[in-house]
Order: sequence, then structure tokens, then C-alpha cells
Amino acid sequence: MGKSLFIVFEGGEGSGKTTQAKGLANRLRKLGFPVVLTHEPGGTLLGNRLRRWVKWGRGVTVQTELFLFFASRSQLVNKVINPALEKGQFIICDRYEASTFAYQGYGRGMDLDFLKMVNTFVTDGRSPDLTVLLDISAEQGLERKKMKMDVFEREGFLFHQRVREGYLKMAAADPERWMVVDATLREDKIQDIVWEQVQKSLG
Ligand code: TYD
Repeated sequence: MGKSLFIVFEGGEGSGKTTQAKGLANRLRKLGFPVVLTHEPGGTLLGNRLRRWVKWGRGVTVQTELFLFFASRSQLVNKVINPALEKGQFIICDRYEASTFAYQGYGRGMDLDFLKMVNTFVTDGRSPDLTVLLDISAEQGLERKKMKMDVFEREGFLFHQRVREGYLKMAAADPERWMVVDATLREDKIQDIVWEQVQKSLG
């Protein structure tokens, strides 16, 4: 059984995470690595239901919202992420715990220590080997996402600026396990930069 990795893509609205997560999954699969590509919120039956509520629900309080994200994560870690890693498969996840710290912590102003404590309980300390931050300014990111706006996309510009700053702080605090890529670069260029790092992580 080869080495498996748990890789997460993070970033603000319109950062192109989903495309990059798919691109990396395809590249690894072509080389014969077993890959599970998943996302948050969602990735399980219950998680996908919760996803609808956090994105489109009306009258959902911010406290409820937080625990919906945690509930979705608990299902994903226990039903998908841990079983895959135990089998030696790669996990590529579009958003994970850092989204909670960035959006609920830095964005909504919830206490970070409290969020970390509950998150550790929910994930049992399972954290990614590598987090790729696709960094984009709040203006540019929101510009790319003008169509159907969910709860978060409707938040103001300052909220998204705080989210971005939160992400950059987390990345700067843990450079061994985070990489920051300029999300305005060409898609294939970003893919190559990420690929180089993944190869290093694989050793
Ligand atoms: P999604 O459509 O997945 O957004 P994106 O395509 O940008 O990933 O919607 C998920 C939204 O939920 C997104 O705006 C970020 C937010 N979110 C949180 O606020 N906290 C969290 O813990 C997670 C996982 C997501």
C-alpha cells in the first residue's frame, strides 16, 4: 500500500477550488492512484441535505448554521475520509475545517478557540496533510460569482475581506502544511504549481 494524502482546497468565493480539486484528482488517477474526491458542506447523504439548508435556508441563525457545518463534517470524516485514508486512498476535499475558521471565525466573528475546540471534537483531530489556499481578492472573487447568490455570496464585501485575511493568516502560521497560490493565474498554471507541491509531499 502506497502513501496516501489528505489534501484540501480552500479559498473565498470564485477562487476556482472546485476546478482545481477535480484537476488534481484526475492527474493522480491517471497515474493510477486511488482518489476520493469530495466536498464540504456535503459529501454524504446527510451532509448534502444540510448543504441545502446552509446555502439556501431562510431564517437559519448563525449558531444553527455553525452546527450544520459541524454535523456535515462529522459525517464526512467518519463515513468517507477516515475509511478512505485507512484503505490507502487519497482524499481531495473541496473545503474543510479552515472554512469554518475563515467564515464563521474571521467572517462572522465567532471565537476561534471555541471553534477549534468543537472542531477537534468533531474531526477527532483528523487534519489535512496539505491545504491549498487559492487566494483571490474579495472584489475579484465576488465579481466571478454574480449569478445565483447563496447566503454567503450575499454577505457584504467586508465579510469576504475578513475571510480572505483569515485564510492568509492561517496559511502564514503553518507554512509546512499550507500553500498559497494566486487564484488569478491561468487554470493550467495553478494546476502545475499544485502538482509540484503534491509531488514533494509524496516524497
Ligand atoms: P459552496 O457552494 O460549496 O461554495 P464554494 O463553491 O465557494 O465552495 O457553498 C458553501 C458555502 O459555505 C461557502 O460560501 C463557504 C461556506 N462555508 C462556511 O461558511 N463554513 C464552513 O465550515 C464550510 C465548509 C463552508
